[in-house]
Amino acid sequence: MSTKVYIPPPKELEFAPSPPPLEPTGPLVLEIGPGKGEFLLHLAEQEPKTTFVAVEIRRGRFTKIAKRAAARQLGNVFLVLGDARECLTRLFRPGLFDRIYVLFPDPWPKRRHSKHRLLKPELLAHLRDFLKPGGSIYNATDAGFYSEEIVSAFEEVGGFRREAIASLYPTYFEKKWKALGREIDYWKFVKV
Ligand SMILES: C[S@@+](CC[C@H](N)C(=O)[O-])C[C@H]1O[C@@H](n2cnc3c(N)ncnc32)[C@H](O)[C@@H]1O
Repeated sequence: MSTKVYIPPPKELEFAPSPPPLEPTGPLVLEIGPGKGEFLLHLAEQEPKTTFVAVEIRRGRFTKIAKRAAARQLGNVFLVLGDARECLTRLFRPGLFDRIYVLFPDPWPKRRHSKHRLLKPELLAHLRDFLKPGGSIYNATDAGFYSEEIVSAFEEVGGFRREAIASLYPTYFEKKWKALGREIDYWKFVKV
């Protein structure tokens, strides 16, 4: 089995894309914004019976991860090129995922850019629906204001229990923010 990639047609075409040919037989995990893909590929190697879907908005990053996953012959990695806020609801049905990771989402600190922040109530409500009962969303954030905003957004959406957790994996971004002395919040939000 080889790594699979999927590029959904643009939503402007105004018809539903055919769903990605996912045939998971075991657990299903979603990562939004895998960046350089270190954590994704690490997990995919650790858990060969789990299928890992990752949605990355930047084509360059998507291509690099696809090449790395193929070089490691990871047949349990399914990469989607797109904006998670736009394509997830077109591609996946509710109650599908065991775990969802959104680690170090870009904080977009300037007020005029705040619309780009990923973890807002609208997306969180969809992510809650995508999770199986008892499933979890994992988040790490290095920007204090964004961490507070994320916690409030989860509270607004409701249906989660929040737990503090330890670092999951020393990705490029985690190492970068730690080296700059930033405090990092790690959360697990369990669907209750
Ligand atoms: C700061 S990086 C963190 C990467 C990785 N999660 C890590 O912890 O090392 C944020 C990543 O999210 C991706 N991203 C940002 N907005 C996105 C969106 N709307 N949909 C999918 N990916 C997105 C960026 O392109 C980037 O790769």
